[in-house]
Amino acid sequence: MRTRRIGGLGVGAIGLGGMPMSIEGRPDEQRSIATIHAALDAGVTLIDTADAYHLHADEVGHNESLIARALAGYDGDTSDVLVATKGGHLRPGDGSWTQDGSPEHLREACDASLKRLGVEAIGLYQFHRPDPEVPYEESIGALRDLLDAGKIRYAGVSNANSEQIRQAGDILGDRLVSVQNQFSPAFRSSEAELELCARMGIAFLPWSPLGGISKAGELGSRFAPFAEVAKAHDVSPQQVCLAWMLAKAPVVIPIPGSSRPETILDSVRAVDLELTPEELGRLDAAG
Ligand SMILES: NC(=O)c1ccc[n+]([C@@H]2O[C@H](COP(=O)([O-])OP(=O)(O)OC[C@H]3O[C@@H](n4cnc5c(N)ncnc54)[C@H](OP(=O)(O)O)[C@@H]3O)[C@@H](O)[C@H]2O)c1
Repeated sequence: MRTRRIGGLGVGAIGLGGMPMSIEGRPDEQRSIATIHAALDAGVTLIDTADAYHLHADEVGHNESLIARALAGYDGDTSDVLVATKGGHLRPGDGSWTQDGSPEHLREACDASLKRLGVEAIGLYQFHRPDPEVPYEESIGALRDLLDAGKIRYAGVSNANSEQIRQAGDILGDRLVSVQNQFSPAFRSSEAELELCARMGIAFLPWSPLGGISKAGELGSRFAPFAEVAKAHDVSPQQVCLAWMLAKAPVVIPIPGSSRPETILDSVRAVDLELTPEELGRLDAAG
C-alpha cells in the first residue's frame, strides 16, 4: 500500500479503526481477529485503538488486548505496525463516556496500556479529549513527561481545536505528530484543523470518516454525489469518501472502523482510486 508519514514513520495511507470490534454491536473474537489479519495482509500498518474501547466497566482496554492478541497470532512480520492508542476517556459501563485528563490518570492509563499491548514503549499515544476540569497544558504536560520517560515514542492529540493544537505543538515540539478529529461528508467543521496540520506537517487522522458505525452504510444514500462518483468508477461510496479525504492533503490518514474483513479490504482500495478535480469539487460541495 502507498504510505504516508506519522513523525519519522511511514504507515499505510489507510489505517484501521478498532472501535467497532469492542463497543456495542461488536462481533465475536474470531471475526475481529480475521478482520485485523485481513487488514495486515492488505498492507495496513496503522491500527487505532483506545483504552476506552470496551463495553462493560470491568473490561477496560478490551480493544487494546484484542489487537495485541491479533498481532501475536499473525503469521507475517508485524514489526512495522504502529498501534496508536489513547488515554483520557473512560466508560463507566452504563453506555456513557466520561473524561479524566489529569496527569495522574494519564500516567496510570499509559502504564496499563503498555501492559495490555505488551510493549516497552507505545508507538503513538494520543490524549483522547480535552477535559474541561483540567487545564489543557497540564494534560499535554503529562504526555511530555511520558515521552521523556521513554514510555511513548510519539504523542498525538484528539478532539482538539486549532488553539489547542498550537498549544500542544509548543509543549511537545516535533514529538507531536498527529491530530485525530472527527471528519466526514456529514461533519466538515474540522477542515480548519486539517489545514493547520497540513501547514504544521503533522498527520491528520479523520475519525468516523464514513459517518460513524451506525451511519456508514448509508453514506451513498445520504450524499448522492458520493454514490454517483462511486457508480462512475464501479466502486463503493465509502471508497470514494476515503479517496476524497486522501486527496485533501498528504497529511491525511483516514482510520475507517471495521468489524468484517470485507469492509476493511474495500476501504484500503481507496489508496489507488484517483478522482478528477471535477469529481473532488462535486464531493466538496456535497455537504
Ligand atoms: N478520537 C475519538 O474521539 C474517536 C471517536 C470515534 C471513533 N474514533 C476512531 O475512529 C475510527 C473510525 O470511526 P468509527 O468506527 O466510529 O466510524 P466509521 O469509520 O465512520 O464507520 C465504521 C463502520 O463503517 C463500516 N465500513 C467500513 N468500511 C466500509 C466500506 N468500505 N464499505 C461499507 N462499510 C464500511 C464498518 O462496518 P462493519 O462493522 O460492518 O465492518 C464500520 O462499522 C474508530 O474505529 C476509532 O478507532 C475516534
